[in-house]
Parts: sequence; C-alpha cells; structure tokens
Amino acid sequence: MTSRRPSGVLIAASILDSDLAALGDEIRRAQDAGADRIHLDVMDGHFVPNITFGWKTIEAVRRVATIPFDAHLMISEPGRWADKFIDAGCDSITFHVEADPEHARDALVRIREAGRSAGLSVKPGTPLAALEAYRDLLDIILVMTVEPGFGGQAFMADVADAKLAAARGWLDPEGACEVQVDGGGRAETADVIGRGGTDVIVAGSALYRAADMAAEVERIRSIAGAARAASAPGSASLSAS
Ligand code: DX5
Ligand code: ZN
Repeated sequence: MTSRRPSGVLIAASILDSDLAALGDEIRRAQDAGADRIHLDVMDGHFVPNITFGWKTIEAVRRVATIPFDAHLMISEPGRWADKFIDAGCDSITFHVEADPEHARDALVRIREAGRSAGLSVKPGTPLAALEAYRDLLDIILVMTVEPGFGGQAFMADVADAKLAAARGWLDPEGACEVQVDGGGRAETADVIGRGGTDVIVAGSALYRAADMAAEVERIRSIAGAARAASAPGSASLSAS
C-alpha cells in the first residue's frame, strides 16, 4: 500500500477569518506566505450554526492560486453536493461522517473517481471508530480539535491527545491516509499536533491575524515538523545511534 504521508508537516490556510471582501488577494497572500494548501470551510447553517460560502465562490477564486484547494464540507447531505465541489476545482473534499453515514461510501467513491482526494472528518465528540467502515476509501482523516462552525476557538488538547495517536495507531497503521488537524492550529499548539503524527495542520486565525504571515507559516511548520519527526517510530534509536 502506498503511503500518502508527506515528508514534513504541511500548512493549510483556512480563509474563514480572512478579509472576504478581498478573497482573491487573501488567497494569494497565503500562497505567497508559503502555505501548502487553501482550506475552504463550507457551512450550511444546518449541520453547523454558521453559513459561509458555496461552490460558486470557490469556482470563482480557484484560478487565483496554484496550490491545492482543500474543501471541508460542514453541510448536511454532503453526497448531494459533492459533484459541485469537484466541478469547482477542489483537489480534496472532506465531509463529516456524522452528516449522512448512509450515503458516505457513495460520496467517497465519486470524489475518488473524479481523481480527487476523499476525506472524512469527526467532530470532537465523535469517536474515530465511526470512520472504521470507510477505511478502504479514505485518503484523508480530518480530526476536529474545535466544535465545527467558527474560527478563532480554543484548541482542545485532550481531543488531539486521544485521537491523533489512535488515528496512526490502529485506524491507519500503514500510513495510507493523510491525517489533518483542524481548529486552533497555531505555534502554541503545533508541538502537541506534531507529536500526534499529524501530516497537515489547518490554520485560520493564527495566519490571518499574524503581523507576518510567512513567519507564522514557517513557525508552525517547523515546530510541528520537529515534534512529528521526534515521535516517529524508530526516531529514538536513530538519534541514539
Ligand atoms: C472550523 C473550521 C476551521 C477553522 C480554523 O469549523 O473548520 O477550519 O476555520 O480556524 P482557526 O485556525 O482559527 O481555529
Ligand atoms: Zn475546516
């Protein structure tokens, strides 16, 4: 089985807290600051108590950046709308297992058949076991470390501790999936996130409220990367030799 795991920790910039009046410029700003991906939080006011934007907006801004577009659908009936996000040019599409478990397999298959990466996300209170039935179809496991709905919330360290090691330990022991952490990602939480073996950190408010976005991208990436490398299997014996 081929591993999807990147060699270092990647940073996905969530535009939720950016200046939406200048969305194209804000996306370009994150790309120029060294972000690896643009993370697009789609909310419908039903699955979560907030409404953001849809595929039309994503389609419109897709051409301003060359880095991958990573959609995080916090919507009911994600399978009903998945094709719209594929057509809008999203490179990866992740939706919530809690939203519509009955149709999740079909949606994951369709996303993959379109040549995009398919992911499932769990809210803080949902156990990882909810993803087990979909293991064979997952490219991405997205662990939420805040309640989905808003940017700028406090990071739930207990959720990260409980779930990240488990995701690597039994849910995806062969590294077939990429593990993403979303919610409260910043330099202060990057060590815990990296230690859990995370591949991608989503960061919204930490980047868009930073005085120097590029420095912040680099800070999060290097702290998380060092923690991830130190906790990788075999790292103790390597450093001892
Ligand atoms: C929350 C979203 C997150 C959020 C991240 O529902 O899925 O992507 O915008 O924002 P910060 O980094 O501010 O927690
Ligand atoms: Zn998100």
